[in-house]
Amino acid sequence: MRPTKHDYLTLSLQAYWFAPPVALWRAVELRAASQEAYPRPLLDLGCGDGLIAGILFGPGGVDTGIDPWAEQVRKAARSGVYRWVQRADGHRLPYRSGVFATVFSNSVLEHIPDVAPVVAEAGRVLRPGGRFIFTVPSDAFHQLLFFYQSRLAAGKEASARAYAAEVDARLAHYHYHSPSEWADLLAQGGMVLEKARYYIPLAVEHLWDVMNERFGTGRRSLWGLLVSPRLRGLPHQRWLARWVVRHFSRAWRDLYEMDVPEDEKGGGLLVVARREG
Ligand SMILES: C[S@@+](CC[C@H](N)C(=O)[O-])C[C@H]1O[C@@H](n2cnc3c(N)ncnc32)[C@H](O)[C@@H]1O
Repeated sequence: MRPTKHDYLTLSLQAYWFAPPVALWRAVELRAASQEAYPRPLLDLGCGDGLIAGILFGPGGVDTGIDPWAEQVRKAARSGVYRWVQRADGHRLPYRSGVFATVFSNSVLEHIPDVAPVVAEAGRVLRPGGRFIFTVPSDAFHQLLFFYQSRLAAGKEASARAYAAEVDARLAHYHYHSPSEWADLLAQGGMVLEKARYYIPLAVEHLWDVMNERFGTGRRSLWGLLVSPRLRGLPHQRWLARWVVRHFSRAWRDLYEMDVPEDEKGGGLLVVARREG
């Protein structure tokens, strides 16, 4: 199955209008992920609420979704994207070995401190020749943060490191492996790294970092108040949602379509691995 070519920027803004920087990151991520093929049966490992898989694969487009977070599993089950959704942990997938042709995992592995057993589980449930396709923030994620760079440029090394640590804590990120480190982890799980492609060019990560200060949800700000989930569905939120989609789908078009130059790293990494047989 190959995802259809969509305008992922507009679709992400519609889904995440309350958090425009999230929508920008997700849009670029989806554009990167959409360039791969996803033969079925397809497992979405760490499916969350199913919004991303819904945009990428459409209704009924995924065979199985798993996530340990009960509320997310309920939302995913209601999304109509999955044939079967189950509460489960990536450390112990409740499936027989070799049953899936593809395991997809979007923005999940960086949230798991001890990731090697999860990678091995993905390898176990794949059939020989099957592929594990995942996205993670890359080994360049810290260095490309706008406020990390600006503090370093001002000679404030400790402050730059503290800023990066604050971002990690806020996003619950535990690691940023390089392609060769992923290759080692994948080999332990019986897989071979086929491709590691950077996305999120410098300009996108800079804007993302700056916009998080302005439009970050979950912090005390006018924006946070206006888009609060407790006010969901009120008329001003419908107006805001329309404004966000209209404004940013034009303003961010060039950034959305920008690729990471060949000899540079981006803030995101798409990894494709093949199960050896
Ligand atoms: C940032 S969300 C991404 C959700 C979805 N893949 C997406 O792209 O929208 C990270 C997800 O990873 C899930 N997760 C965390 N630890 C996990 C584990 N050990 N096994 C499987 N999923 C896990 C979380 O519950 C959460 O839904």
